[in-house]
Amino acid sequence: MARFASFFTLFTAVIGASALPLHRRCSASSSSATSTATGTSVSPAVGAASGLPIPTSVGISVSIGLPTGTPTGSSSSGAPTGTGVPTGSSTAIPTGTGSSSGTPTSSGSAAPTSTGSSGSGSGPHWVVYSDAWISGETGPPKASDLDGFNAFLLSFWMTTGPSDQATTWSQLDATTRQSTKAEYKAAGIKLMVSAFGSTEQPTTGGADPVATADNLATFVTQNDLDGVDIDYEDFQAINLKDGSAENWLIKFTTELRKKLPAGQYTFTHAPVAPWFSGAPTYPSGAYLAVDKAVGSMIDWYNVQFYNQNSDYESCDGLLTKSSSTFPNSSVFEIAKSGVPLDKIVIGKPATQADQTNGGFMSTSALASCIATAKGKGWNAGVMSWEYPQADSAWIKAVQGSAFAA
Ligand SMILES: *[C@@H]1O[C@H](CO)[C@@H](O)[C@H](O)[C@H]1NC(C)=O
Repeated sequence: MARFASFFTLFTAVIGASALPLHRRCSASSSSATSTATGTSVSPAVGAASGLPIPTSVGISVSIGLPTGTPTGSSSSGAPTGTGVPTGSSTAIPTGTGSSSGTPTSSGSAAPTSTGSSGSGSGPHWVVYSDAWISGETGPPKASDLDGFNAFLLSFWMTTGPSDQATTWSQLDATTRQSTKAEYKAAGIKLMVSAFGSTEQPTTGGADPVATADNLATFVTQNDLDGVDIDYEDFQAINLKDGSAENWLIKFTTELRKKLPAGQYTFTHAPVAPWFSGAPTYPSGAYLAVDKAVGSMIDWYNVQFYNQNSDYESCDGLLTKSSSTFPNSSVFEIAKSGVPLDKIVIGKPATQADQTNGGFMSTSALASCIATAKGKGWNAGVMSWEYPQADSAWIKAVQGSAFAA
């Protein structure tokens, strides 16, 4: 119950700061029926970054006991074994796999100004979060149920320790963990943990970036994981626009990469798309500053292109021209700002119920945008919130013929 109480306390704080978007940790506890009832599967967007007013009602409807919306068994039974998983061997620039124009518009050349990132995304990455408790589960799904994905993010680790699916994983016995890992490895699926989520504000809360990174790295290594995703959603800190959030993230990333060396561990971040807008929206740079400083330590970005009202709901808005609310934050505009195109994984909610404040696209509409993006030289991949609404059938439909295995 203590955790439950803090959930609401934090929620109030988020609303008060008119923060935005998010992967909300779903439940008060990862393993009780109560958690299913109180938490939700949703990754709500609550408010708006930098002053975009969001009606309180939105937040309230988000906060309180949403219907569970966690379809259980139905998802992906009978999926073939993971052999068809597009493993990450392809290079940043599509090498003429028959995609139409194949003009690598901005991938290679996109990053000349960046001292941090260089294109090493080696996608495509097909990523899915798993936070919500799934009735009857005894750990992660069978790898065969995830055919089409190649990264599965147990959510979330918090500064207080694991919660939800991260807890479930850490409580498995070592033998089960290792056999699960072997099964995922054979299927080409990375098993990672995602940190923080929308219910935690590590910078605002005063967490030490180095100690926090050390604790998280210990969790990763002690629990046989392939890597870590940073779902930093400290809107209050970012909205100070004074560089403090950026500095925190840079210190944290530097330490975490030191403890989880490149090549051995996968390390991603999951910023919301507006954080790539740059000045004047974010004069201190937000994630453009993070990428410049430590982008080379980050394997790719699971960019949340949702929960910003209707932004990013059209192909144009998603790929080539974002709205004036958050300019320069569509996929190819972010690349123009110096972030390697092959690191910009497109994140989308799986269903209407998985969004809180816009951004959802139908599977077919998204597939069509994905094909368009690939035709322009993008191949970073797609992230979804969350499993099991985003299942094997979903990701395969999104990949469509453009990325057919
Ligand atoms: C978008 O980025 C370009 C540089 O790529 C810059 O010239 C332009 O001013 C930016 N637009 C806005 C509205 O920030």
